[in-house]
Amino acid sequence: MSNFANRVTDIPPFQVMKVLARAKQLEAEGRDIIHLEVGEPDFGTPEPVLAAAQQALSDQLTHYTPALGLPELRQAVADYYKQRYQLDISPERVVITPGASGGLLLSFALLCNPGENVLMSDPGYPCNRQFLRLIEAEAQLVPVNADNGYQMTAELLDQYWQASSRGVLLASPSNPTGTLASREQLQNISDAVRKRNGFLIVDEIYDGLVYDQAPVSILEIDDQAYVINSFSKYFGMTGWRIGWIIAPENAVPNLEKLIQNIFIAAPTLAQQAAIAAFQPACLEILESRKKELKARRDYLLPELTALGFKVGAPSDGAFFIYANIDKFSNDSEAFCLKLLEEQGIAITPGIDFGSHFASTHVRIAYTQPIHRLQEAVERLRLALGK
Ligand SMILES: Cc1ncc(COP(=O)(O)O)c(C=O)c1O
Repeated sequence: MSNFANRVTDIPPFQVMKVLARAKQLEAEGRDIIHLEVGEPDFGTPEPVLAAAQQALSDQLTHYTPALGLPELRQAVADYYKQRYQLDISPERVVITPGASGGLLLSFALLCNPGENVLMSDPGYPCNRQFLRLIEAEAQLVPVNADNGYQMTAELLDQYWQASSRGVLLASPSNPTGTLASREQLQNISDAVRKRNGFLIVDEIYDGLVYDQAPVSILEIDDQAYVINSFSKYFGMTGWRIGWIIAPENAVPNLEKLIQNIFIAAPTLAQQAAIAAFQPACLEILESRKKELKARRDYLLPELTALGFKVGAPSDGAFFIYANIDKFSNDSEAFCLKLLEEQGIAITPGIDFGSHFASTHVRIAYTQPIHRLQEAVERLRLALGK
């Protein structure tokens, strides 16, 4: 009998890792695999960020930083909100974290007692449920559909809120759907949460990757909301493990206490490097990458639709297309494994993101150059007998 804690057995593995492990095995056997499964772009870390990290290493900047992060980085994040959203955010409200993952865990730890629950969309980013499990709280999954852009609405919030509910987590753009919550949806949810004296956390990790419209930050609407963000996606720094929270002022000392005890601080080298991510030369690189991602989406979306994938709510941002495959299969895991074995295309089964219509959906990440996406479309055509 094992002596591991119950939470370990309760937390399931990421299904996508099964796909990834098999893809790696096939690659080791010499197969050419097109990776559209993992949520990180193929671009590396931008040169100005690498140069800043190299300089920090040469200067021996390798000691702990303050728990809330380097003042210069907190100021740079605050300035970014001024530039991007015309918002005056005090740097005192910026809390530097080990990735958005660290930010989510800290926010839940700050706001939830054991047994309380947080409303979140199904489909949604799966780790949120596990962060809550870790602190003995729970996710209250709210099924969302293409009709509401796979985003929660105030009506759904009314329907699913329980006596044990403490707050709501949204992600806009969302993983796995790439869809946005509209300004009106955000406003209505904020009102509904405030009415209940609850908390609102918005994961804006993909806000730099919104293609056809200006992104909306919840902070434009509700300055008591918690924003989670990160250098992982838009800034191309997944492996550096660095992100941030914008928290209400009165929450910051408590977040500081949690960080001191759990992490001490985010990694120093990553913080030094991240300061350079906001330099104009770096932002120029990032904006051209964003254009490339948009071009990939604009290529792939109509091709998938022509093949018979149904995309109920098109991807407005991030780098994901969430597609209905019920024309081909009602077992998304088997569908993905078969595609991998027979055509060498790796995509993620919907079952990774929840249970609502999960077995008839897949997530396709357009994180490969267009010529590889073209190859993927050709292979899909073969697989689907088109
Ligand atoms: C919606 C969402 N939130 C948070 C994360 C975690 O990101 P980080 O690398 O900053 O920890 C991810 C990563 O895929 C994500 O998709």
